[in-house]
Amino acid sequence: MMNELIPPHGGRLINREVLGEEAAALQERARSLPVLRLGSWALSDLELIAVGGFSPLEGFMTSHHYRSVVAEMHLPEGLPWSLPITLSASREEAASLREGQQVALADASGEPLAVLELEERFEYDKEAEAQAVFRTTDEAHPGVAALYAQGEVLLGGRVTLFRRPPAAFAEHRLTPTQTRAAFAERGWRTVVGFQTRNPIHRAHEYIQKCALEIVDGLLLHPLVGETKGDDIPAEVRMHCYQVLLDGYYPKDRVLLSVLPAAMRYAGPREAIFHALVRKNYGCSHFIVGRDHAGVGSYYGTYDAQKIFDEFTPEELAVTPLFFEHTFYCRACQSMVSSKTCPHDADQRLVFSGTRVREMLAAGEAPPPEFTRPEVAKVLIEAMSRPVEA
Ligand code: ADX
Repeated sequence: MMNELIPPHGGRLINREVLGEEAAALQERARSLPVLRLGSWALSDLELIAVGGFSPLEGFMTSHHYRSVVAEMHLPEGLPWSLPITLSASREEAASLREGQQVALADASGEPLAVLELEERFEYDKEAEAQAVFRTTDEAHPGVAALYAQGEVLLGGRVTLFRRPPAAFAEHRLTPTQTRAAFAERGWRTVVGFQTRNPIHRAHEYIQKCALEIVDGLLLHPLVGETKGDDIPAEVRMHCYQVLLDGYYPKDRVLLSVLPAAMRYAGPREAIFHALVRKNYGCSHFIVGRDHAGVGSYYGTYDAQKIFDEFTPEELAVTPLFFEHTFYCRACQSMVSSKTCPHDADQRLVFSGTRVREMLAAGEAPPPEFTRPEVAKVLIEAMSRPVEA
């Protein structure tokens, strides 16, 4: 493996995207096909399948793959895979389609972007999926709510993308092939991936920099697909990342790129998924801190770390880097965790997300030991802007 990046999951990067004349021909063909309009969640999955982010998947799951993933967290061929990647349709939509037929997949406006080779239509048990994947059937869980809102039938089969969904952050939307090329160009062999759906606070920065002490580079890989309503919008977060990188990170050791995936809030299972997807982007290491991809109190603080014990290191290949809950300690005068600091709780600067939001909304910057002033400024400005209709 000397001088080589980690291989993608399954050994090769999937490419289900056609370009140029081939794309034009498929686009033409799509005009004569039945059309299915996709929501933003399915569109982001479509894009990620096509560009290889979800390698070895080549399409939306058929029942054999779906059941194996939900029950066993492995694909039938044996590779680990922890989240179902499915395309749903209403019973009426599904009834109008035939197995073996091609279907045009379109965006919300009806513009076709891809063709699905419809291999199978199948019914599924939403509650069973929710319990297995999210460990709860509570509709207050945003991932469960999204699942329950889906159509009743799943459509499985290979996809071919001829036009990428319209998207923001074009210059930061690198495909796995492009991030791998960027790593190789910089001479990085070991790269740590960092998933985030939040602005980078000092705890995030600390764990990234701890990791950066032992690997060649950092892929700062914020998720910019669908997130729940009270998460900070991706445009604001991107601005925060830029000011932070400009001021506090060595340029030649960090690559900022976006992951156009939807956030499931599936905690432990999503941590495995996030790690495998970042492996496809070329990351040899992946950070899993406290309550990774969690929401509310559905998961234990370290459940997303414990789930890695259910897999062998060889089958995952990507190395998880686990971090305890980190915070600033006044006595240590540095970022610490309970692994590194002996002081009492009254020395610790710990804020809840809710408290931070309240402070920012009131135009008050959290202390610099919690959030860099440059980042706080961006957040306060964004919060004081009227919400666009
Ligand atoms: S997540 O939903 O994307 O996991 P977030 O953007 O807050 O949420 O977290 C990004 C990563 O940083 C996750 O691996 C998370 O576990 C980790 N993390 C966030 N805050 C802390 C903290 N205070 N201490 C340790 N790890 C943290």
